[in-house]
Amino acid sequence: MIEEIQEAIEKRRTFAIISHPDAGKTTLTEKLLLYSGKIQAAGMVKGRKGRKAAASDWMAMEQERGISITSSAMQFSYKDVIVNVLDTPGHEDFSEDTYRTLTAADCAIMVIDASKGVEKQTRKLFEVCRIRKIPVLTFINKMDMPSREPLDLMNEVENVLQIHSFAMNWPIGTGRDFKGVVDRMTGECIFFTKLSHGGAQKAGMQRVPLASDEAKQTIGETGYKQLVEELELLEMAGNPFKKEEFLSGDVTPVFFASALTNFGVEPFFDAFIHLAPSPHARLADKPDGTEVAIDPVTTPFSGYVFKLQANMDRRHRDSMAFIRICSGKFERDLVVKNHRLNREMRLSRPHGMVAGERTTLDVAYPGDVIGVINSGFFSIGDTLSITGGFNFKPLPQFQPEVFAKLHTKDVGKRKSFDKGIVQLVEEGAIQMLRPFEYEGDPTFAAVGRLQFEVMQYRLKDEYGVETVLTPLPYQCSAWILGDIKTYVKSVSSIIVQDKLGRPMGLFQDQWDKQYCIRHNPKHQFVDLLA
Ligand code: G4P
Repeated sequence: MIEEIQEAIEKRRTFAIISHPDAGKTTLTEKLLLYSGKIQAAGMVKGRKGRKAAASDWMAMEQERGISITSSAMQFSYKDVIVNVLDTPGHEDFSEDTYRTLTAADCAIMVIDASKGVEKQTRKLFEVCRIRKIPVLTFINKMDMPSREPLDLMNEVENVLQIHSFAMNWPIGTGRDFKGVVDRMTGECIFFTKLSHGGAQKAGMQRVPLASDEAKQTIGETGYKQLVEELELLEMAGNPFKKEEFLSGDVTPVFFASALTNFGVEPFFDAFIHLAPSPHARLADKPDGTEVAIDPVTTPFSGYVFKLQANMDRRHRDSMAFIRICSGKFERDLVVKNHRLNREMRLSRPHGMVAGERTTLDVAYPGDVIGVINSGFFSIGDTLSITGGFNFKPLPQFQPEVFAKLHTKDVGKRKSFDKGIVQLVEEGAIQMLRPFEYEGDPTFAAVGRLQFEVMQYRLKDEYGVETVLTPLPYQCSAWILGDIKTYVKSVSSIIVQDKLGRPMGLFQDQWDKQYCIRHNPKHQFVDLLA
């Protein structure tokens, strides 16, 4: 059994792709499917446009697809490894789920648009990787388009994200002249050729030594000279690449490529499966407050719930709980302890998304994600295991950025409204903030606007309650640590409390927040509870 688990773990790579909208995450995911042989031609993955559509379309689409095991995790094999791709929307459907899902990954691919550099949502998601010590590979995309200088992009990654970068390859030409890359590990040029329109099929690939006449001829004299100079500069500027530094989150290996044309895609995936870590020990807290590392091989089954998705079956108020397996072998109908409730439960009818099909799983291993029906017994962050005695680290919580009041249109529906809100809050779909030290209507908070649209849609669709949403004029927030009695509030900000009673300031804008920070030097303002 131990050997079986060990072997399964060594084969697995569980990762998420993080990016700002439009950087090319969907295209790269699709290319991973193309190169793994799961789809015959790229351009077939449905719903790309749909993901950018309104909430109701989005929900309808999710339901049509048989909800969201697809958007939670997908498993397939690439060469001799098994990859689990976790979905972390970087789009308008950006929400707290996105952050939580990222914690279930062992590694992340950060896709950056070569003409734009590091953008806002990438920065936020990267922050979770840093806190969780998730190693990040950087994929600088769209090199077939006019782009910024490669060195400039590397500097931006270093300065904005505060991480060292190491160019694993270097582009040969950019825009229309993007011919290939130099593999800095082997000193070879890899030239690519288009074999189909729009990158529907794999690109042709030819490796030749950088120092060869063939390389010089293909690149042209001026280009070749410049390339050699740039490579020399890189050699002088940096230390050699060390895999340990990547795994500890101190350096990000950078790859230049074009997901659309497939130029650089295959060498990237090959490097990825070589560099990306297999599922490893995860830290947990013991009841006595000490930390323990949960070994994936020797600890019997354990995992945690990182996402809940309501109402797979509309006749029931059921939801689906997604569990990341952290240790041991999972077998269908396994009876596990839910540590929070201190009770045993059977994990029956577990689902997975294997090779593009939703299937009932008989077995699963660390790194895999299973979806089970939740009849109200799972909450976000729950630790499940055979042995008990520890809890995986709490999931990070980000400061919300959009706030609103919500009322039912029909007072007669108050009961259903309350019930729906309780479930949505429990699921982590939305945050409910209460006034601090007095009774009053709650404020609803989210990290993305679409979370509100989804909330209203679901209240109507699943609970039959029409609601009116009144946006509030706050744009940022922070948890406030320190004695709240001595806290000095600005005129335009308010103080509320989160579900655990922790005080939180809501501010009209960054200026307002900075004002409060300046006037409360004894208090700490926290944007992220990790
Ligand atoms: P996202 O999931 O990160 O939001 O990005 P997505 O892959 O949907 O890509 C956003 C747009 O960028 C798409 O164009 C896509 O074709 C284009 N794109 C992705 N990778 C590359 C690349 O390497 N080079 C170039 N030139 N374009 C790229 P679109 O017009 O919005 O959509 P579509 O009509 O092409 O589907």
